[in-house]
Amino acid sequence: MTDDLHAQIRDHYGDSARRMLDALDAQEAAATGATGGTPATTLTMLPLLDVQPAACCTPAGVAAAPGDAHAGASCCESEPTVFGPDLYGALDRADLPDAAVLASLGCGNPTAVAELHAGETVLDLGSGGGIDVLLSAKRVGLAGRAIGLDMTDDMLALARRNAAEAGATNVEFVKGTIESMPLDAGTVDVVISNCVINLAADKPAVFREIARVLRPGGRMAVSDVVAEDVLMEDERRERGSWAACYAGALSFGEYTAGLMDAGLVDVEIVPTHSVADRMHAAIVRARKPANA
Ligand SMILES: C[S@@+](CC[C@H](N)C(=O)[O-])C[C@H]1O[C@@H](n2cnc3c(N)ncnc32)[C@H](O)[C@@H]1O
Repeated sequence: MTDDLHAQIRDHYGDSARRMLDALDAQEAAATGATGGTPATTLTMLPLLDVQPAACCTPAGVAAAPGDAHAGASCCESEPTVFGPDLYGALDRADLPDAAVLASLGCGNPTAVAELHAGETVLDLGSGGGIDVLLSAKRVGLAGRAIGLDMTDDMLALARRNAAEAGATNVEFVKGTIESMPLDAGTVDVVISNCVINLAADKPAVFREIARVLRPGGRMAVSDVVAEDVLMEDERRERGSWAACYAGALSFGEYTAGLMDAGLVDVEIVPTHSVADRMHAAIVRARKPANA
């Protein structure tokens, strides 16, 4: 299942990143006159994926019936603000390249809650277009380092392009999966992530890897989609596909147990906003014991 799921997710997110890269190439070509006067392409937000908005307008587990007054998403019109760039404040967005902001597909702003300090090493799991890596890099300063880990080539290309445009020198983007991280044990102060752990095929492996790469006393602060404990797996699937960040979401109880099984402590999950009926974006925090 892991390989199939990874392939599906790479296709999905690679496609989005490729479209953004093509738009950037077109802009550059127009700016240098290489297109013979063709107007520059306007960058747009990456498309939100196959979210099924009607699902959040119906009681848990009940698909909207044809003709249902709720079907058609009227109560979900705020959908674009539950994922993407709107979740970042104006100050965070101001100094970043447009493409980094517009490529945001997250469900929160983990750098706002991770309490990053100068000199720390931060690892972003599933770094996408790089927005949280660039924000982390500013917070940890030149004495620190921000590393983005992603398995999708075109996302890595987009993130590296955004980092170059931002002039960030204390960042690095590494190819690999979050289930098997190509990083040494005990080398990371803070693990962040934005709407990616729900996509992992093997969550226990991700939690073990987080515990392995964190230094003793290190911490994680991630944004993710979390389901209420009453919601069964098929009900999560009804709200949206795996690639759209719904079907693979853990419940609050499953998330807490998974992190604790990996040896992490002080687990705390705080919902921030609803993303579908009985499903929430949340901040998940935990810590590796200092004596581990
Ligand atoms: C929903 S996007 C989020 C991107 C970014 N965190 C943001 O907030 O914009 C998911 C990203 O995670 C990456 N990803 C998904 N599953 C992964 C896995 N198992 N290992 C590594 N990267 C993964 C995808 O390639 C994609 O770039």
